[in-house]
Amino acid sequence: QKLDIELAAIEKGGYDHFMLKEIFEQPQTIFDSLRGRLDAKNGTLTLGGIREYAEVLSNANRIVIVACGTSWHAGLVAEYIIEEVCRIPVEVEYASEFRYRNPVIGQGDVIIAVSQSGETADTLVAIEAAKEKGAIILGICNVVGSSIARASHAGAYTHAGPEIGVASTKAFTAQLAVLTLVALKVATEKGSINEQRFQYLLNELEAVPEKVATALQLNDQIKAIAEKYKDARDFLYLGRGYNFPVALEGALKLKEISYIHAEGYPAAEMKHGPIALVDENLPVVFVATKDSYYEKIVSNIQEIKARKGKVIAIVTEGDETIPAMADDVIVVPEADELVAPMISVIPLQLLAYYIGVLKGFDVDKPRNLAKSVTVE
Ligand code: AGP
Repeated sequence: QKLDIELAAIEKGGYDHFMLKEIFEQPQTIFDSLRGRLDAKNGTLTLGGIREYAEVLSNANRIVIVACGTSWHAGLVAEYIIEEVCRIPVEVEYASEFRYRNPVIGQGDVIIAVSQSGETADTLVAIEAAKEKGAIILGICNVVGSSIARASHAGAYTHAGPEIGVASTKAFTAQLAVLTLVALKVATEKGSINEQRFQYLLNELEAVPEKVATALQLNDQIKAIAEKYKDARDFLYLGRGYNFPVALEGALKLKEISYIHAEGYPAAEMKHGPIALVDENLPVVFVATKDSYYEKIVSNIQEIKARKGKVIAIVTEGDETIPAMADDVIVVPEADELVAPMISVIPLQLLAYYIGVLKGFDVDKPRNLAKSVTVE
C-alpha cells in the first residue's frame, strides 16, 4: 500500500495532482510538439504527416474543423489563424452537432479533426460521415494509432505525452502549436503569406515555450487570487479575437473542476444582454493581452467596472492602462496575437486548478466526467 502511494507520487513527479504536473509540463510539451518540425533558424517548417496533402489543403475551398470541448476551443483559435494566414474559409463545428445535421460536405472540403484521445465517439463518427461524402480528413491527435488518427487520410500528432488529468491542459496548448504549424505550412504552399511575416511567426512560435515557463511563475499569485474568489457563484470570462476561445477555455476549466458556473463570451457581445448579469458579486475574467483588439477591450472593461463588476485581467507585461482599472492583474509576456493563446491560457488553467483544490474537490477526476467520451 505504501509502495502504491510512492509509485503514484513518482508518476505525479512530486506534484499534488496530475493536472498540476501537466500544467507545468507545457514548456516541454509545446517544445516537443514543435521539435523536428519548426526550424526557425533556417526558416523551414516540416510536417511529414501532411506532406502529400499539403497541395490538397492549400487548394481546399473550405476547411471544417470538428471537435468537442477543449479541442473545439483549440479549433476556434485555429479558425482565426488559418483564415488570417491562408485566406481559406474555416468553420468550427461541435462534432456532435455536425454529425446529426446532414451537413453539406463534398469533394474539395477538408475536415480537420482535433482530439486529444483520438477516441471521442462524436468526432470519430463525424469524420467517417464526412469521408463518405468525399472530404479529406486531417487528424490532430495526441494518442498514436488512436481511432481518429487511423480514420484520417493524414495528420500531425501532438507530442504532449499521456494526459491523465480529466481536464485537458497540455493537450490544448500542444494542439494550438501543431495547428499553427499546419496553418503556416499551408500558407507557404498557397503563397498567401510573405517570407518576412512567415519568418517572424516562426520566431514567435519558437519563443512560446520560454514565455509559457515565465507565465508558470505566476503560480503563487494565482493561488492568492483563487483564495479571494473561490466562493463566487458565477464567473464570466471575456475575450476578443484570438483570446475569445481562450475565454471559453478558461470558463470550461473552472466549470469542470470547481463546479462553479462560468461562461465565456465575446467581450463586445456583453452589451447585447449578458451585461445585465454584472454586479459587485460577479468576478469577470478578461483575457486582455496587447493585440489588434486592445483598444476595444479596454472599453469593454470600463463597461464592466461602471456596473461594479470585479475585474480580473490577464494583461501583457508593460501595460499600464488596464492595471489601473482592474481589481486583480495577471501579467504575461508579450507575444504575437496568433501565438498568445498558448500563453494567456496558463493563468486560467492555474486559477481553475487552485479554486478546485481550495474547494476540496478531486481535480484529477471531477464528478460526472470521463477522460475520453467514447459514447455518443
Ligand atoms: C476538456 O477539459 C474536457 N476533458 C473535454 O471537454 C474534452 O476536451 C473533450 O471531451 C474532447 O476530448 P478529445 O480531445 O479527447 O476528443
